[in-house]
Amino acid sequence: MKRGAKSQARSRLIVVSNRLPFAFKRGPGGNWIAEPGSGGLVTALLPVLRNRGGTWIGWPGSAGSTREFAPALTSAGSAAGYDLVAVPLDEAEVREFYHGFSNEVIWPLFHDLTSLCNFDPAYWRTYTKVNRKYAAAVAARADRGDFVWVHDYHLMNVGGDMRALATQARLGFFLHIPFPSPDVFLKLPWRKQVIRALLQYDLVGFQAARDRRNFIACIEALGEEARVEGRGTVVTVTTARGETRVGSFPISIDYNAFMRAAATAEVDEKARELHTLLPGRKLVLGIDRLDYTKGITLRLQAFQDLLVRHPDMRGKVSLIQVVVPSREDIPEYNRMKTEIEQLVGRINGEFARPGGWVPVWYEYRSLTRLELLAYYRAADIALITPLKDGMNLVAKEYCACSIEEDCVLILSEFAGAAEQLRIGALLVNPHDIEGVAEAIRTAHSMPQDERLARMRAMRRSIRRQDVFWWVDSFLRAAIARDLSDFPAPEAQAPQPPSNQLPF
Ligand code: G6P
Repeated sequence: MKRGAKSQARSRLIVVSNRLPFAFKRGPGGNWIAEPGSGGLVTALLPVLRNRGGTWIGWPGSAGSTREFAPALTSAGSAAGYDLVAVPLDEAEVREFYHGFSNEVIWPLFHDLTSLCNFDPAYWRTYTKVNRKYAAAVAARADRGDFVWVHDYHLMNVGGDMRALATQARLGFFLHIPFPSPDVFLKLPWRKQVIRALLQYDLVGFQAARDRRNFIACIEALGEEARVEGRGTVVTVTTARGETRVGSFPISIDYNAFMRAAATAEVDEKARELHTLLPGRKLVLGIDRLDYTKGITLRLQAFQDLLVRHPDMRGKVSLIQVVVPSREDIPEYNRMKTEIEQLVGRINGEFARPGGWVPVWYEYRSLTRLELLAYYRAADIALITPLKDGMNLVAKEYCACSIEEDCVLILSEFAGAAEQLRIGALLVNPHDIEGVAEAIRTAHSMPQDERLARMRAMRRSIRRQDVFWWVDSFLRAAIARDLSDFPAPEAQAPQPPSNQLPF
């Protein structure tokens, strides 16, 4: 019988995300070829999808019909060990659902950047239409007892749309980006619809306690009678619409895989090469997707401020700033790229000396995995200063790759990762230019004992709560009879991950 057939007795996992975990490219004959994506989510979910049988439903990322993608999906799915289902989007849908509502409304709003929001009613209409399309694709494949796990802000309505289709499956949702406080969220013209849609899930997961608190505050601010039970990281919220579990589950990385890969001779050699190219100084690293939430221009201003106010630092540090191209069709992103490049030019123009030290080494491209690991290993200081971030996995990857533990993480207090990494990171307010400059100076002169102790504490925590722990906690929270397994963080004992659907 075909894997995933309706009559299958075991409950399966159905993952739904905006993009499928494969990048689709045209082959030489014009046919589509699927190449595995590099995201951590697929690594984490793979063991469960393979053990229990499962399906991943999402957009292939390019315009094309279901029929055109079918052969590539079938062969990629049989190699991967789970089924792949494409939800094709036409050009108008990509424009108004993906670029429009998802990335010009929810993305800026949920990162507290209301002035960048374009509350175009047409965007909302297309968002609801596309979410219904995803829900129909899921409902056609979900059986009673299956667990449907919907990911991220593109698909908040899918749970409610599936209920409207009378689904019998259990429904979970995880938001990878922050959830804003009521004073920001209430600006959304469709605020009630979004809150009600989220309350249709059996479990709603957030990255941080901050986001979980904001969500509950927004329910109350909208005048919904809500009873909150529990004091741990997962609570039960009961409204007139029913019961929803609401929890925080900090996403993570495959710690062991990063650590092992970073320890290879190849990476070691490439990291040494970087120090040879940029000799006699400490390397400060910033790696970000091109995005206005990442605080790149403020970070460059902080680095400039360091060099202006502390001339003794000139020649002693270089900033390697890697910007990975992203969402290039959105005008705001292009404007930002120009601003970053002008600022890099200004700093280098002011301080660089011919044949000598260059303060900022700037790269606008995607790094290969080898390069990424080598940059992490070579960096003496990581400077990660988003204005707001759901989690920020660069911070965790940097720690995992720092196998000598002799380095420093400077981290924005507004990154979700700060809740966990405050035990070892130098926390900064990314808007405080002089404060960030001082943190670089502190990191530069930090005694070795302190560097080692801080990095060791963070690495221990990330190793314990890796991405497999994350999957396991979310799935357990969905089915646990009671929530005593999810105590407040200070009382938490490490749980061995099972990588199995626990039902
Ligand atoms: C963030 C979102 C993801 C998204 C990624 C890349 O991390 O939480 O859902 O996939 O950015 O953005 P893109 O628009 O290229 O999918």
